[in-house]
Amino acid sequence: MADKKETTGYLAPTRQVRIGDLRKRKGSGDKWAMLTAYDYSTARAFSDAGVECLLVGDSAANVVFGYPQTQQISLDEMIYIAAAVVRGAGNALVIADLPFGTYEASDEQAVRSAAEMMRRSGAAMVKIEGGVRIAPRIRALVAAGIPVCAHIGFTPQSVNALSGFKVQGRGDAADQLLADIRAVADAGADFVVLEMVPADVAARASESVDIPTVGIGAGPDTDAQVLVWHDMAALPADGHRPKFAKQWAQVGAELTAAAASYKREVAEGTFPAAEHCF
Ligand code: KIV
Repeated sequence: MADKKETTGYLAPTRQVRIGDLRKRKGSGDKWAMLTAYDYSTARAFSDAGVECLLVGDSAANVVFGYPQTQQISLDEMIYIAAAVVRGAGNALVIADLPFGTYEASDEQAVRSAAEMMRRSGAAMVKIEGGVRIAPRIRALVAAGIPVCAHIGFTPQSVNALSGFKVQGRGDAADQLLADIRAVADAGADFVVLEMVPADVAARASESVDIPTVGIGAGPDTDAQVLVWHDMAALPADGHRPKFAKQWAQVGAELTAAAASYKREVAEGTFPAAEHCF
């Protein structure tokens, strides 16, 4: 059988990516990539490209379900899409977000929700948002044998409490950011996402802990990077793009152009042609 490199042009990992593999790369300069995925086919595409880690983000609320707010997605909805991603993930490590309202109330609630997510989806790790305030939940999850990715800086589930989409950790607020990363690392998180944090603060934060930091709008000095795939591939064509996201493709424009060509050829009667008929 042809190997992955021959069939796709990329070198996907030949064995399952494990949390320990990525932890060992901390500080080595051997940076790794995480992308969101929400279904089987994109999980396959990203895994074939060698992306080490797939995040089933609750950004699915917006980009998959079209809800105006992240907070509206349910645990069941997250579990269904996470299970599809796991089926397509190949050797990539899959992390799934616990959505708003499923872990904040108590340690018991957090463990119950995370266990449900892992049991029904097969995800290897859960992500929860918050620093010092959420450290007890991280401790409880780790004690229950559930690997945790923390998420600090701008935390989308708290967008209302944070009064909008704002850079976190500027000026005096850097101390809180540093306290947050210390708290989640001490509580036993395996990775930590830093979102919308000044690059110099993210660099200090990353140096201050021995767990991998995954930046999104946090500059170049984190151990890994993550992006919402719709932002890095420009879907939809006219969508809002955050300043921190670069576009490597114009998928939205391509898809609309393909659909328009299909519609035109159906209307003209040129599709299906002889080669498409039995
Ligand atoms: O939900 C999500 O996609 C995320 C990323 C932005 C890190 O949490």
